[in-house]
Parts: sequence; structure tokens; C-alpha cells
Amino acid sequence: MSEHKSDADESSEMNDRKPQAENRLWGGRFSESTDAFVQRFTASVEFDQRLYEQDIRGSLAHAQMLESIGVLTSSELSDITDGLHAIREEIASGEFKWSVELEDVHMNIEARLTERIGDAGKKLHTGRSRNDQVATDIRLYVKQSCSIIEQQLHTLLQGYLTLAAANVNTVMPGFTHLQTAQPVTFGHHVMAWFEMGMRDLERLVDLQKRVDFSPLGAAALAGTSYPINRAMTAELLGFSGVCENSLDAVSDRDFAIEFCAFASTTMMHLSRIAEELVLWTSVQFNFIELPDRYCTGSSIMPQKKNPDVAELVRGKTGRCYGHLMSLLTLMKGQPLTYNKDNQEDKEPLFDSIDTVIGALRAFSDMTVAIKPNHDEMRRAALMGYATATDLADYLVKKGVPFRDAHEIVGKAVAQCVGGGCDLADLSMEDFKQLSPMIETDVYEVMTLEGSIASRDHIGGTAPSQVTAAIERAGRRLAEYDLGRQAS
Ligand code: ARG
Repeated sequence: MSEHKSDADESSEMNDRKPQAENRLWGGRFSESTDAFVQRFTASVEFDQRLYEQDIRGSLAHAQMLESIGVLTSSELSDITDGLHAIREEIASGEFKWSVELEDVHMNIEARLTERIGDAGKKLHTGRSRNDQVATDIRLYVKQSCSIIEQQLHTLLQGYLTLAAANVNTVMPGFTHLQTAQPVTFGHHVMAWFEMGMRDLERLVDLQKRVDFSPLGAAALAGTSYPINRAMTAELLGFSGVCENSLDAVSDRDFAIEFCAFASTTMMHLSRIAEELVLWTSVQFNFIELPDRYCTGSSIMPQKKNPDVAELVRGKTGRCYGHLMSLLTLMKGQPLTYNKDNQEDKEPLFDSIDTVIGALRAFSDMTVAIKPNHDEMRRAALMGYATATDLADYLVKKGVPFRDAHEIVGKAVAQCVGGGCDLADLSMEDFKQLSPMIETDVYEVMTLEGSIASRDHIGGTAPSQVTAAIERAGRRLAEYDLGRQAS
């Protein structure tokens, strides 16, 4: 997020209303300078300067196209190209002087170009507008961010597969309502994380299809009277095609909304996992160990090892939801085409990108390093009558209707709760009293391993099924890789 000036700053400038220097890029029809406060209020340069690379690439492509249709001479083109390269260096090295008077990244760069190369610089804006320029820049920025995030998600998914493969036999309680429900394996649980992340990856791949069109050439809104070649600029910039309609091209930001929806869903998933990590690292659960480098201590309680990174991922999820809501609300009242409201698209979008990149970076390193405490997980699975359903299923297999079986097992559990023991601690005599159908083979079905192994179908927690699921998942990732290489 941009740094905001303090209120004191703001009001002193507001009060003296000093007229600012003429804004040379559009000052022609104005008879008085912009109010100093208005200038700051309307400027976006503090936060859109991060688009400089995309802006320069867009200008380079536009200039090349203008030369190809005879609007620029080849020497003007080479001056513009050299100038833009030099400006890119100035910005990258931190020498560039950004000016609020020049409002945004586009006018800052254009003004500097003219300062450096003279009149040829003034010709660059022929046949375009900041409206198609900014839409192009943001699409390029989103595309680039998507490829970074795609790579990160891929790494995370690979990490899940490694973690799952190492834990196909690690028994833990599965939960519903956060109450012990049935035994599962940790590997099966991690593969649930994989499925969540794989869908996020698919969403990300899908949304990029719609980002991948070039608005350049739509100009202010209606197109331009120059014989421009939109396909050429689109190709130079690596877009798959051009936006079909100039009005739509400069005005809609649905692609940014889709990105923020992706970011929100991905963060929601990470946040759920983060919540599990927080619970599981507590002494009460003690299911897992997180690497020390991903935890922090307390300044007062020496024993503490806090899962801060997981907590922050959970906490940062809210800002992504907020940004999604901001963008949806930003767009809902806007008539076609461009309105200055659109300038407010950047901060939510940029912050969503930063948040997802940060969270994925933390997660891909932290989750692979999770060390499960096998004994603790097993102990927890033995508590809470996790195999009660198995006992009911056993009775059903002996011919007892499921509802009756449910009732019988309910009574067995009540007896155990009263006696402070587990189902497997009941004697054969106890069992016979509950149902004459129960034989000594009942003890086998109530073991954790027996329970897990019996869920032996696609999507079930039996180790052989989880192993097969991991193999299929690996193939899906490989197919995805091939698909991405081809596109
Ligand atoms: N800074 C502006 C934005 O972010 C650039 C486009 C300005 N266009 C205009 N007609 N004022 O949207």
C-alpha cells in the first residue's frame, strides 16, 4: 500500500491552496492551475509506479507499431527506444525523480522521455490514451504475477505430495465439528489440502485466459483514426489476442476481480490449513512440530513457540476478501467507459497479489517441513471412540439394521464413558449383553489399522487408496505441466 501523508501535511496544503506548476501534458485548455490538494488527491504515482516496467514495454511496442505504419520515422523510433531503455535504468537504479505534479506513472515516464529526447518523445502518445495504456499495463502486470503465483502453487502442491507420501500410514483422528469422528491417515488429510490447492491452480490457469487480451489501440474509448495495427502490439507484448471492443477494453476490470476472487479462495484454503497448524502445534493437540524458523517466541513467556506465520496467513486472508469486495463495489456503478474511479483498482489488486505471493512462499517452505508426532496422533485417535462407526458397520454386516446397530453402539459408548474406558476395553461378556451377534472377531474391526484399511475405495483413507491417490495426483500435476508448456 502507498504511504499516506499525515493529516497535518494534508490540511496545511489544503489550506494554502498553492497553485502548482502547469501540468504540461494536458494543460492546454486550462486557465488556472490545479489546486495543490486536488493534484495530490487525484495522483496515483505513489502506487502505480510499480507498473513502470509494463508501461515501458507497452510504449516500446506502441512506438514500434507507429513506425511500421509510418507515423514515426525510424530515427524517431530509435530515439524513443533508447530513451525508454535509459528511463528503465533510471527507475531500476532509483535515480528517477517521480513527481506528483505529473499524476501517474504514464505521464511521469512520458515527460521524462521528452525531457531526454526532445520532440520525438511528444509523438509517442499518438493514437493511444492513458485509458488503453493503463488497462494494458495492469493486464501485463496481472499476467506476470499469475506466472509467479502459478509456479509457487505448483511447488506447494509438490510439497504436499511429498508430505502425504511419507505419511500414508500415519494414523490420526479425523474430525467433524472438531470432535473426534473416525480414524484417518495424515497422508489422506494432506491429500485433501492437495485437492484444495489443485483447484486453486486450475482457477488461476483459467482466469489467465481472460486476462490475456490486449486493450492497446482502444485509445480513449472509441479507437483511433490512425491506421494502427493492434495485432502487432498484442503480439509484441505476448498477448494471445486483442480485446474485441474498444469501449469494453478501456473500462472493465473484471479480470482483476477474477484475480481477487482467486486470491480470496486460495487464501481461504491456506487459512483453513493455517488454523489446523495452529491447533495442532498447541500442547493440547501436539500433533505436529513446525520448524523453528517459522515460529517466534514470546518476550515474556520463555516456554512459548508461537505459530506466527500460520496465524498471519489466516489473518491476512481478510484483506483479500476486502479487496475483492472493494473491486466489485468499485465497478458496480460505473457507466461505460473509463471513469477515474478505475484508478482505485490498483491498491486492492496489488495488495492481493503481494498477500498471495507472501502466503504461498511461507506455506511451501513451512508445510513440507511439518514433522508429525506419530505417537501423539495415534494416542488421540485411540481416544474419543473413533472406531464406533466400525462397530456399527460390523453389526450391520452380521445382519443388524443400521439404525439398531447405531443404537447398540451408542449404548456401548455410554458404558465406556461411564467406565472411563475405550470400546476395545469392553469384555466379550459386555459385548454379548449389548448384542448376541457380536463375536470375538469384533476386536479386529475396532483397531485403528482395521478401521482405516476397511475404507478401501477411491477417495477413502485406506493406505493403498491414499498411495494410489498420490500417484494419480502426481500424474495430474505432470499433465498440467505438459498443458502449460504447450500453451
Ligand atoms: N492513473 C490513471 C488510472 O490509473 C490512468 C488513466 C487516466 N485516464 C484519464 N482519462 N484520466 O486509471
